[in-house]
Amino acid sequence: MRGVLLAGGTGSRLWPITKAISKQLMPVFDKPMIYYPMSTLVMAGISEIMIITRPEEQHQFRQLLGDGSQWGLRLEYGVQPRPEGIAQAFVIAEEFLAGGPVALILGDNIFHGGGLGRMLQMQNKVEGGVIFAYPVANPEEFGVVEFDANGTAISLAEKPAQPKSRYAVPGLYFYDAEVVRIATTLQPSARGELEITAVSEEYLRRGRLQVRVLDRGTAWLDTGTFNSMVAAAEYVRVIEERQGLKIGCLEEAAWRAGLIGDDDLRRLAEPLCKSGYGDYLLRLLDWTEPSYPEPVMWHLQ
Ligand code: G1P
Repeated sequence: MRGVLLAGGTGSRLWPITKAISKQLMPVFDKPMIYYPMSTLVMAGISEIMIITRPEEQHQFRQLLGDGSQWGLRLEYGVQPRPEGIAQAFVIAEEFLAGGPVALILGDNIFHGGGLGRMLQMQNKVEGGVIFAYPVANPEEFGVVEFDANGTAISLAEKPAQPKSRYAVPGLYFYDAEVVRIATTLQPSARGELEITAVSEEYLRRGRLQVRVLDRGTAWLDTGTFNSMVAAAEYVRVIEERQGLKIGCLEEAAWRAGLIGDDDLRRLAEPLCKSGYGDYLLRLLDWTEPSYPEPVMWHLQ
């Protein structure tokens, strides 16, 4: 399974901050925003990722991430010239996906919680589509899923004025190879976008969509507004300070996934020691951790 990370958009809800720099490169406490969704893909067992950006911002991402080989990843870059919708990512990535299944993650979505990596790895062989549902206080700002009394998803709506449930759809989607054809046949919505919700609706119509409710112990944060960005940074700071463990640490995720070894981690750490980030990476090599007793099964392809 390959990954697509969508880091396009104008970031206009964060202007003037994001006028000259991509939103997904903004800091969320101690690392660039894009580290978080990238780590999520790596934890899901994915090592080949296409990063889709606005054309004029691609060089910023290349400067930060390169070809990914330093983390044992293979990164490719795609461009979305205009903000014409999340589902357009599948059309842009068609060749990269090479007829295989895909995990799409939005560059401003942060996931954190126990067992998340293992749960995501299980979506590797997706047939149809798998999306998630998460209770939020403001469902009208998201895609919303409606369940019947048995907990079966029966409808989806994009930012409904009157949401039919409290369950928002986070920006992480697993689809089989059919998704490219589905995305190609979509018509733009009233706001001129190829909606990701329309893709999931099509899978739902075909009876091939699974909606998994994320455990309430999982944190799902997005970072699209001033307040939500500060809230996410504060969340990361509080947990990291308490546990002494980092959230969204790409180097750590790659090392735990076995994509890089101890020597590689040491090499990555050295230039980062002044900020303390590198010291953290070095400490990982010394810890023995009862919470990671056995190697996790990674299904890398
Ligand atoms: C997008 C999707 C929405 C989803 C959300 C998750 O909204 O359209 O369905 O719930 O991402 O972050 P956006 O934030 O791009 O408006």
